[in-house]
Amino acid sequence: MYYRGRRMIRLIILLLFWRMDRMDELPKHPGPIGVFDSGYGGLTILDNIRKVLPQYDYLYLGDNARAPYGSRSFEVVYQFTRQAVRYLFEQGCHLVILACNTASAKALRSIQQKDLPQWDPNRRVLGIIRPTVEGVGEVTRSGCVGLLGTEGTVQSESYPLEIKKVFPHIEVFSEACPMWVPLVENREYDKPGADYFVQQHLNRLLSRSSRIDTVILGCTHYPLLGNKIRRYLPQQIQIMPQGEWVARSLQDYLRRHPEIAARCTQGGRCQFLTTESERKFSEMASIFLRTKIESIKHITID
Ligand code: DGL
Repeated sequence: MYYRGRRMIRLIILLLFWRMDRMDELPKHPGPIGVFDSGYGGLTILDNIRKVLPQYDYLYLGDNARAPYGSRSFEVVYQFTRQAVRYLFEQGCHLVILACNTASAKALRSIQQKDLPQWDPNRRVLGIIRPTVEGVGEVTRSGCVGLLGTEGTVQSESYPLEIKKVFPHIEVFSEACPMWVPLVENREYDKPGADYFVQQHLNRLLSRSSRIDTVILGCTHYPLLGNKIRRYLPQQIQIMPQGEWVARSLQDYLRRHPEIAARCTQGGRCQFLTTESERKFSEMASIFLRTKIESIKHITID
């Protein structure tokens, strides 16, 4: 009994040291705001954030080598996202935005509840589903909303669940569009071939309810298909991209949390990290951002 007690105490001390050790690995000084996406789509979110909060520094990480995440399992999306967030923390970020719906749907909660308390309870990871949901209540009049997203986002039911919490009267109809991300990634988003897939999914969505008056683009790639989506949606239906809502919500968050804002450096700089080649990232990123970007670095994470 006595020995078992001593062994237990030794184990607890070891665990405490291990935990302190993990925390010590992370830099304490202020750092840029981390923005993570499975690939390029998060650039559309970053673009909006920088318009509203140009004074901050940003570190964007695209896990392009392992994208798309959309059809991957819950466990894999969690592991990949967890590795990316840890990497951004190690680079000095204290606040990381998961600028990816799939990662927000499948990994955010586990990272917030399981990993952050162990790594450093003072760091923050925020997703993009909640800010979008808050916007939905302001946009819909009929209380009937359509959601377009990846298979992972739709299957997770994160949007209907979050919407129910904030606006119990709003009904959500979802449609997974697995072909849309590959269309964008293969630069077919403005070509005639894309029309077929855009029309097909919109028709399916609209056939579920004639009361839908708002359609959420619940995937960061979809703004690039915006023109085609507009063409095949009745005029009275509003399209809701996420970037503006996420940016506004982050601005509000930093205002309400000066202690987090104080740990985010200001200098207007932006650096890009990719798990793919720098050349490929540069080519694709210029499509998403409509401008050429500098300062790209290849990294490996695991
Ligand atoms: N960025 C992802 C999202 O918003 C889509 C791309 C992917 O499937 O990896 O859901």
